[in-house]
Amino acid sequence: MSTDVDAVTTSFADLVGHPPAGVWAAPGRVNLIGEHTDYNDGFVMPFALPQRVTIAADRRSDDSWRVTTLNGDRTETFGRADLVPGMSGWQAYVAGVIWALDEAGHQVNGADLVLTSDVPIGAGLSSSAALECGTLAVIADLDDLVVEPMERARLARRAENAFVGAPTGQMDQAASTLCQAGHALFFDCRTFEVEQVPLDLAAAGLELLVLDTRTPHALVDSEYASRRASCEAAAQLLGVSALRDVTDVDAALTQLDDETMRRRVRHVVTENQRVLKASERLQAKDYVGLAPLLDASHASMRDDFEITVPTVDLAVETAKQAGAYGARMTGGGFGGCIIALVDAGRADEVATAIGEAFAASGYGPPAHFVGIPSAGAARLR
Ligand code: GLA
Repeated sequence: MSTDVDAVTTSFADLVGHPPAGVWAAPGRVNLIGEHTDYNDGFVMPFALPQRVTIAADRRSDDSWRVTTLNGDRTETFGRADLVPGMSGWQAYVAGVIWALDEAGHQVNGADLVLTSDVPIGAGLSSSAALECGTLAVIADLDDLVVEPMERARLARRAENAFVGAPTGQMDQAASTLCQAGHALFFDCRTFEVEQVPLDLAAAGLELLVLDTRTPHALVDSEYASRRASCEAAAQLLGVSALRDVTDVDAALTQLDDETMRRRVRHVVTENQRVLKASERLQAKDYVGLAPLLDASHASMRDDFEITVPTVDLAVETAKQAGAYGARMTGGGFGGCIIALVDAGRADEVATAIGEAFAASGYGPPAHFVGIPSAGAARLR
């Protein structure tokens, strides 16, 4: 991480002509369990990754924002008049946060930002939430804004939903803002209550493999929106404000005729139950007890919510065959990453087995790392 801090600090000085006022960072996340439950007012349990967006910044004397990313060396400039929802390009995640702060009545001023990110893009690890939450940390500090952590997460999500135009839930921005090192974040997406749950896999002789299938996210936006619409329609038919309120899944299913909708509901209701169980097992430090919940979550995403793809399913099956206690896809779906709970020191071996299975099926090589629960957004310098 410190090399990223040095890189953005040096580049800032080169590009802007003076050192930055500070350096901030915000992480990507892995979701341990609780997929597509957030926008159903349900439960999720992500943790933040060490992979993060690092931003050097300072105020400008004019009313514009100039943003440079060292990933591809691109610079974009926009002024107050450009802060209009629907902006395209990567800079929309930065502009959207400034827009959301401004819209909420905060006095925002022009700034120079130079950033770099090591959060894999399009892998379901919330690279966009990292950029949003990092930008929020920067602007709040530069402009001396008093914005509580959960309010930061809400504003960052508002940027994603209303400015960028992606109808996501609250999980990713909450994770990037609120997570603590060594903990998973149990987050109730209705009450916005959070609990930091210690997650020390190493002490239990375990580790969590995060494997990026590198499958292109085809159709992810339209499929995400259609899953969300289906859940909202089901809640309306069931006479509840959100699927969170369905506790008796069998009774609910008898009230629905549409077979696809029934499966969507079954996923959400059972996934919420699995998050609650996972939280209990984590509290009891029964980490191996997570494994059957991971497996059941994956089966539910594959068969009921239908958001997995062949590479993801093959990765999960192969991880299990190679000795993982449990495995599931993590993130929004249609590609991206899987997580697998394995004995400490075995992540590379399991990843190699998956790479071989991919090669035998004609898929390109995956990438992998061990997921370390890390800190949320913060000023580093
Ligand atoms: C994406 C969204 C989140 C959440 C997950 C699925 O990451 O941004 O809000 O819905 O998908 O759990």
